[in-house]
Parts: sequence; structure tokens; C-alpha cells
Amino acid sequence: VQLVASEGTRIRERYGVELEIAGVLVRDPVRERPGVDRRLITTCALDVLDADCDVIVELIGGVHTAGSFVRRAIARGRDVVTANKALLSACGRELFTMAERAGVALRFEASVCGAVPVVRALRHGLAGDSIESIAGILNGTCNYVLTRMEDGLDFATALSLAQANGFAEAEASLDVDGEDAAQKLRILADLAFDAPVRRAWVTGIRGISAEAIADARAAGCVIRLVAEARRVAGGIEMSVAPRLVPRSDPFARVVDEQNAVLIRGRASGELLLSGRGAGSLPTAAAVLSDVLECGDRSRHFATDRAAVGLGAEV
Ligand code: HSE
Repeated sequence: VQLVASEGTRIRERYGVELEIAGVLVRDPVRERPGVDRRLITTCALDVLDADCDVIVELIGGVHTAGSFVRRAIARGRDVVTANKALLSACGRELFTMAERAGVALRFEASVCGAVPVVRALRHGLAGDSIESIAGILNGTCNYVLTRMEDGLDFATALSLAQANGFAEAEASLDVDGEDAAQKLRILADLAFDAPVRRAWVTGIRGISAEAIADARAAGCVIRLVAEARRVAGGIEMSVAPRLVPRSDPFARVVDEQNAVLIRGRASGELLLSGRGAGSLPTAAAVLSDVLECGDRSRHFATDRAAVGLGAEV
């Protein structure tokens, strides 16, 4: 809502897309929401899902309720924009097939790395190359916690701060146990590789102690939660785990809630993308870019085909 208010005029003039918010579905209608017209707020999902609009933006998270909303929106012929990595990682294949059959777009730039346009980079910018590997810091909460622990905070206090800043999932164990990063890695791997995932390991940062941070510092390193997918014989191998990263490594300079992705293309070589990976405004910027692309009905369909493999069994 904030971005539509601040960017709406520029977007209309530059892209010819007129943005109007038709309704906002919320859990708690009483909560203060500065800048939001109260008449648009509803707690009844059908008020929004069945509204006369072009695009449904799904930002509620989780798999079951969000999935039923997205299916209904697609069935009613609406384009859908989502930031929901859990949903795409669990049922992406089904949803993309459904969207393709219905002739609507299902866009998901905000589901991985917040403001960093890594989905577009893989779908468009690197479409002409074969990707060898992807490595990244994909969870802003873990990176924030690890950075604050370098400043001397304990794990619990650092996590509370990440939650207070709006970086963490509603269920923060998804962040700190590595599953959020694994879901994002699955989405990136599906975009990057035409191969099945053969093996996957996921470890979070719960076991990282103040001593481990101090030992890393003494060795000239920092600890980062690194997610990696790479080609191996017969498919793709994926891992999410805390790693010792030398201070000279670009990942060591990724601090706070920032994310980074290092993509290795056969022809392109190495490509490093980084930026704010969590938080409301960076996520909103990615959501809004997807909404704008939905406004371009002539091009969206072909580009969505690249993502149809999402949600394959691992
Ligand atoms: N909880 C997620 C993170 C939010 O910390 O990265 C952005 O996906």
C-alpha cells in the first residue's frame, strides 16, 4: 500500500499501468494500518478472492490456506503474485500447471531474496546459459542473528530483534533451522537446472554458540548460513548449513538481513547478486515489480513456462 501510494504516479507515467487496490484481507481488522483505507479491509477471504480485479497478491504465507486462496484466484482467471516460498516449494508444479492451463500468470520474485531480482536473473538474464551451481545466503533472519552475535549479542536476543524488525517468519524455527533457506534454494534450483534433486541436507544455526563465533573470528572468518545447489552425476545436490567464511570472501561482507546469491554459468562465469533479503519494503518492491509485469498481458505467458517444474518430489 505504501509503495502503491509513493510510486503509483511514476508507474502510470512510465509503464502505463494504473494501480488500484480493490481490497485487503487481514486477520486482525482492528490493528492500526497507517495509510490503508479502512473501507478496503475485510476478514472475509471471498470479498477479496471474488472481487472484480486483475491481480491477487498472496502474502499470508503457509501452505494450506494460502494454497486454497491461490487455487481459487487462478480458477477465477486472476493473475497471482506471491511471496510464498513454502507454498511454491511444496506445490509449485501443480500451481504452475494450473496457471498455465487457465492462461494466467503466477509470479514469485518476492519469494526468494526480497528485493534482489534473482528469479528474473535466472528466468531471463541467464536463460541462454547452463547453470553449474548456485550458492547463497538466502535467509535474512539467520544472517541478521549471526551478524548481531558477532557484535556480542546472544542468540535469543538477536532473534528477538530480527522478529521485532519483521524479518522472521511467523514460525521463526523455519528460519533458524534452515528450512526457509532450503525452500528458497529449491525454487532457485528448479529455475536453474533441468535435473532432479538427488540429495539434500539442511542444518540451521541453532547450534552456533558465542564460542563458535569467537573461534571463527580468531581464524579470520565469520559464520554464514550458506545454501548451495550444484550439478552432480545424475542430478542436483543441495545443502543448507553454517559455514566458516574467510573475511576476504564476498559472503563475509553480507551483513544484517542482506542476502546474496553467487551463480556460476557455463558461459557467463560468476555472477554475484546481493541486497536486502527480508523486511516489508524490500519485499514490497519485488511484489510490485511482479504486479507491473502482470499488467503486460502480452508477454507473461511464455516466461512462466520456465517455472513449471517447481514442486517436484525430492
Ligand atoms: N524470514 C525470511 C528471511 C523472510 O528471514 O529471509 C524473507 O523471505
